[in-house]
Amino acid sequence: MIDEKQITDAANIIKESNYIVVFTGAGISTESGIDDFRSEGGLWSRYDPAIYASYHYFLDDPSKFWEMNRSLEDLVANAEPNPAHYAIAELEELGKVKAIITQNVDMLHQKAGSGKYDAKIFELHGQFGTLECIKCRKEFHYEEIDTKSVKYPVCDCSGFIKPKVVLFGESLPIGVMEGAMNACRECDCFLMVGSSLVVSPANFMPSIAKQYGARILFINKESTVMDNIADIFLRGSASEIFTALMKKINT
Ligand code: APR
Repeated sequence: MIDEKQITDAANIIKESNYIVVFTGAGISTESGIDDFRSEGGLWSRYDPAIYASYHYFLDDPSKFWEMNRSLEDLVANAEPNPAHYAIAELEELGKVKAIITQNVDMLHQKAGSGKYDAKIFELHGQFGTLECIKCRKEFHYEEIDTKSVKYPVCDCSGFIKPKVVLFGESLPIGVMEGAMNACRECDCFLMVGSSLVVSPANFMPSIAKQYGARILFINKESTVMDNIADIFLRGSASEIFTALMKKINT
């Protein structure tokens, strides 16, 4: 049950803010049909990340990563944004959201229209849709390579091919972290949606924003390891909470 007073208070903070950073995790996409990682039945309950999402393991044997990735290809390609993604795009159009820092690789923020006005999108863990050879850095799109009938795709140069997503043990894309940290220092409101906040360095962001004076709003189904820094913790479904927030903001 959504707490009316919390919705009103959070909507007032959003109305008073002019530089909102939205920080999202896999929880914002579960209502688009993409499982998150650590909820019950999440991806890591089916695939051990130490094997299936480890860069070092991938260098040794890419077939495990590709077994997992193959199971997600069509799902991610066909996923549609949900009301939470659209609300964030609407807050950008209203001139409120200036940056979206996402741990997600599903590009649902872009599909919902985020980035169309003046918000920057920082994809901390890369993007599912583009692939590259880890040896010669040649880039590919899924339609250009066969990922279904082989154990794993290999480049003409003999290098392994993988989506440009950050695996455990792999460094984050150059410059993305710096841009995201700057946005956290600039913002007057930091809105976290759908993350357990257990993975660094992404999980540094809320405390940086707090340290620089931003008001902190959390929207999440479960408690996180950083609830204590939130000024308001809106517990529940991201879609339902954003629908209630946008009703208040647009009245
Ligand atoms: N509405 C709100 N919150 C939700 C919803 C929803 N519909 N569905 C799930 N959640 C919450 C869960 O309760 C959980 O706390 O979203 C959070 C998702 O947490 P994780 O599964 O840990 O995902 P995330 O925080 O994005 O993981 C960070 O870990 O494995 C790596 O690279 C991977 O980017 C990922 C990173």
